Amino acid sequence: MPSGVIFRGHISQSPPPDIADALAHAASRLGGFGRQFIWFSEITSTNDAVAMLADAGTAEGAVVAAEAQTAGRGRFGRVWHSPSMAGLYLSLLLRPATHATPLVTIAAGVAVSEGIEAATGLQTSVKWPNDVNSGGRKIAGILAEAGTSTEGVQHVVLGCGINVMPSAYPPEIALRATSIEGELGRHVDRGAVLAECLAAFAAHYERLHNGTHGEVLHSWRRRAAPSLGRRVEWDANTVVRRGVAEDVDDHGALLVRTDAGIERVISGEVRWI
Ligand code: BTN
Repeated sequence: MPSGVIFRGHISQSPPPDIADALAHAASRLGGFGRQFIWFSEITSTNDAVAMLADAGTAEGAVVAAEAQTAGRGRFGRVWHSPSMAGLYLSLLLRPATHATPLVTIAAGVAVSEGIEAATGLQTSVKWPNDVNSGGRKIAGILAEAGTSTEGVQHVVLGCGINVMPSAYPPEIALRATSIEGELGRHVDRGAVLAECLAAFAAHYERLHNGTHGEVLHSWRRRAAPSLGRRVEWDANTVVRRGVAEDVDDHGALLVRTDAGIERVISGEVRWI
């Protein structure tokens, strides 16, 4: 890490061999991602570490990953269980162009779904905004946290947690969570999962910048098919709104058909009913 950055965690200089080998194998497809790859055996949250790197002026593409997190967090302030040797916990430092920013989390969900499939053969779906599911249960989640100034978004910390083994999540959430190994009933190469997710994200991130973001949306729609057409509800100014999820738009908003026409849902929690 750059000098001046102090972080509480147990850093090891190089990632374990399974991770290092997979990253080396995929190096030509990673773009700038992972050129600076920092591995912690234990950390509070990889998102916090990347936010500190961002504030210290680190270039886009840095990746922090950890064997375990002691304060992993999910969306809406939820806990993200992050036990050792059970899941993948990583965060990327992005400095996207303004026009690319709105679709970053959509691209991330697609990339994780594609990366899991490329590495293991397991087919997963995405659910707006960026859950990755298998058989209706969550297998991976993404937490994007933006660093802003008066000039707009300065950086985005893109955190991703992937359940590799069933021990990644507590038994009490087994009805809504699953893991790659649990679905496939066999051991998988977690290094390959990490590397393929990074490679898929690098490709989609490039599309967000070069004017071919339509391909990202096309891939998202294909993988979101199981949830599109389903009824959703959400809270808007103390009123519960309901409708049918139909699509996403160019800004990553969920388009919901309601009695009053199509509504754009841009943030907050959507409940699938
Ligand atoms: C969600 O679905 O609620 C998002 C979960 C995001 C978890 C990842 S694990 C790596 C990174 N560090 C964190 O503290 N959270 C994200």
